[in-house]
Amino acid sequence: TVELNPVLLPLDWLLGTWESDEPGEGCFPTIQPFRYTEILHFSHVGQPVINFTFSAFQAETKKPLHRECGFIRMQPGTNRVAFIIAQNSGLVEIEEGELTDKQLDLQTSSLARISFAKEPHVQQIHRVFQLRADGKLEQTVSMATNNQPLMQHLHITYRRSS
Ligand code: HEM
Repeated sequence: TVELNPVLLPLDWLLGTWESDEPGEGCFPTIQPFRYTEILHFSHVGQPVINFTFSAFQAETKKPLHRECGFIRMQPGTNRVAFIIAQNSGLVEIEEGELTDKQLDLQTSSLARISFAKEPHVQQIHRVFQLRADGKLEQTVSMATNNQPLMQHLHITYRRSS
């Protein structure tokens, strides 16, 4: 095993595999509420970069739905964090924000999509990861689209599985 690059020590609590504890809850004013499961992998190869993949499934049928993968970087000597993300829906994104204790608060700073992405188009994402005192990880995602203001889309809790 390769030693973690010291730039990433503030994020060492994220590394490993996380699985949804109970199904997460999806919502938005324009859709039917839904339940989903999700597996997160965070790994590194010694570079000052965390590699990640998130895989989400419909809770009832286990059908694969949403996937994201990308990289996490930190500005050395600061609490600034950047996520570089590709989503299977045809969206690519940079989210930036801050690490405070064991909470990451991120906002879209840049976003692009494939020419034939279906509407509505996401305009902004706000995402919070928090490692709770009980050792569980929580993720909350809000989004704004071209026809809805910033509202919650996802809430889920994970337990560490390795
Ligand atoms: C719907 C974006 C993550 C499941 C939507 C819609 C958008 C969107 C724009 C359409 C809303 C509307 O019609 O007004 C995103 C973004 C995500 C994300 C930007 C990540 C940051 C997820 C995840 C799941 C999920 C992790 C888990 C399975 C769904 C479902 C719908 C939906 C089931 C409704 C049916 C559909 O339109 O396919 N999402 N989503 N999404 N999303 Fe997400």
